[in-house]
Amino acid sequence: MTETLADDPLFFPAPRSCPFSAPPAYTELRETGGLHKVKIWDGSQHWLATRHEDIRAVLGNPAFSADVRADGYPLVHAGQEEQQGGLFLRLDDPEHARLRRLLTREFSVKATHALRDELLAITDELIDAMQEHGGPVDFIKHFALPLPSRAICLILGVPYEDREIFQGHADVGTDLSISHEDRITAHRETGLYYRELIERKRREPGDDMISRLLAEDGFTAEDLPRLVGILVGAGHETTANMLGLGTLALLLNDTERERLRAHPELAPTTAEEMLRYWSIVSTDPRRVALDDVEIGGQLVRRGEGVIVSLIAGNRDQRVFGDTADQVDIGRNARQHVAFGFGTHQCLGQNLARVEMQVAWPRLFERIPDLRLAIGEDEVPFKRNSIVYGVKELPVTWGTEK
Ligand code: HEM
Repeated sequence: MTETLADDPLFFPAPRSCPFSAPPAYTELRETGGLHKVKIWDGSQHWLATRHEDIRAVLGNPAFSADVRADGYPLVHAGQEEQQGGLFLRLDDPEHARLRRLLTREFSVKATHALRDELLAITDELIDAMQEHGGPVDFIKHFALPLPSRAICLILGVPYEDREIFQGHADVGTDLSISHEDRITAHRETGLYYRELIERKRREPGDDMISRLLAEDGFTAEDLPRLVGILVGAGHETTANMLGLGTLALLLNDTERERLRAHPELAPTTAEEMLRYWSIVSTDPRRVALDDVEIGGQLVRRGEGVIVSLIAGNRDQRVFGDTADQVDIGRNARQHVAFGFGTHQCLGQNLARVEMQVAWPRLFERIPDLRLAIGEDEVPFKRNSIVYGVKELPVTWGTEK
C-alpha cells in the first residue's frame, strides 16, 4: 500500500511533449511503479495505472465497473454521463455481455475478412482519385477518413452521402477543447439524424446491421439511435487516426517502409505494431472500483476511480523490450492493449485490423515514392483529443512538390 491522497497530483491527460512518445510524466510514473493519483478536469482525483501488467489487472477484473453513472466514475467530460449512461458499453456483465453478443456478428474475424475484396476495391478507388487529383493532397481527407467511413457505412447501412453529419459529430465527440453547450447541440442534431434513419429502416429494411438489429428487437427504440451513433463514430474516427499516424510513421522510416514493400505478408504484424506504437486512445479506458482491490501494490478502495494509460502500457520495456519506443513491423506485438483488455475489449478490432492490413501494402505498392509534402515538424497533431491523430497529412509523389 504505497499512496493515498496526493497534495499536488499530476493533471490527466498530460501532454505528449514529443508527438512520437508517451507523455514523459506517465513514463516516469510507470518506472516508479504502482498506481498514482491524478487530477482531472472537474478537480476530482483518481488512480492512474501505467504498467502493462497493472492495466491488464484493472481491465480484466470484474471488481471494476465501466458504468459512467456509478459514484466516483472519472468522467471524460461533463456530457459523458448523459450521452453514454445505460448504453451497453457502459454497463457491466452480465448485462453488457448479453447486449454485446447481439452486436458481434458483423465484427467477427470471419465477417470482417469477407470484406477484404471490397476494402481493397475501395482502397484502389481512393488511390486512383488521389493520383487523378495529383499531389500534394491531404491524406486524411482523401484516404484515411473515407476508407473506414465507407466500411462502417456499408456494414450498418448508413448512407455514405450523409458523411458530413457523422464525421462532424466524431470531431465534436473526441475534441476535449469543445464547450459543453456545443457538444450537447451537436449530439442533439446527430441524434435526430439517427432517429430518422432508423425510422426509414423500420419502414424499408435493407441487408444491413441496423435492419438486423431492428428485426431482433434487442435494443430499445431510445438506445438504438445512440448505439448506432457510437458505432459510426468509433467505427471511422479511430481507424482514420490510425491510418493517418501509421502512414506518417512509415513515411518517416525508410527502412520499415521498404521492408513492408518487399514483404507485404508483414501487413498483420505492421498493423499490431502501429496500434501498439501509437496507442491512439489517450484518455480511456476508465473504471470505478465496486470493491476494495489491490493493484500493483496499491489498495484501491470501493468507489475510487481508475484511469489507465494505454500508451504507457504499450511502451513498457518489461513486455516489449528495450526497443519499445521504436517501430519494428516484424515484432510480435499482439499482447498490446491498444484495443483495451477484458470484457470491454474493442468490438470493432477485427474490422480495424483488416482495414490497416489491406491499406498499407496496397498504398506503398501503388505509390512507392509517397512522401510528406511538409516538414516533419510541421505535421499538425491533435493535442487535446480523446483519440490521438493528425488533423491533416499533406503528401505527394512523383515530381510534384
Ligand atoms: C484502430 C482502431 C480502434 C481502436 C484503437 C479502438 C480502441 C478501443 C478501446 C481501447 C476500447 C476499450 C474501451 C474500454 O475498455 O473502456 C474500445 C472499445 C470499443 N470499440 Fe474500439 N477501437 C478501434 C476501432 C473500432 C471500430 C472500427 C469499431 C466499430 C464498431 C469500434 C467500436 C468499439 C466499441 C463498440 C467498443 C466498446 C466495447 C464494449 O464495451 O464491449 N472500435 N475500442
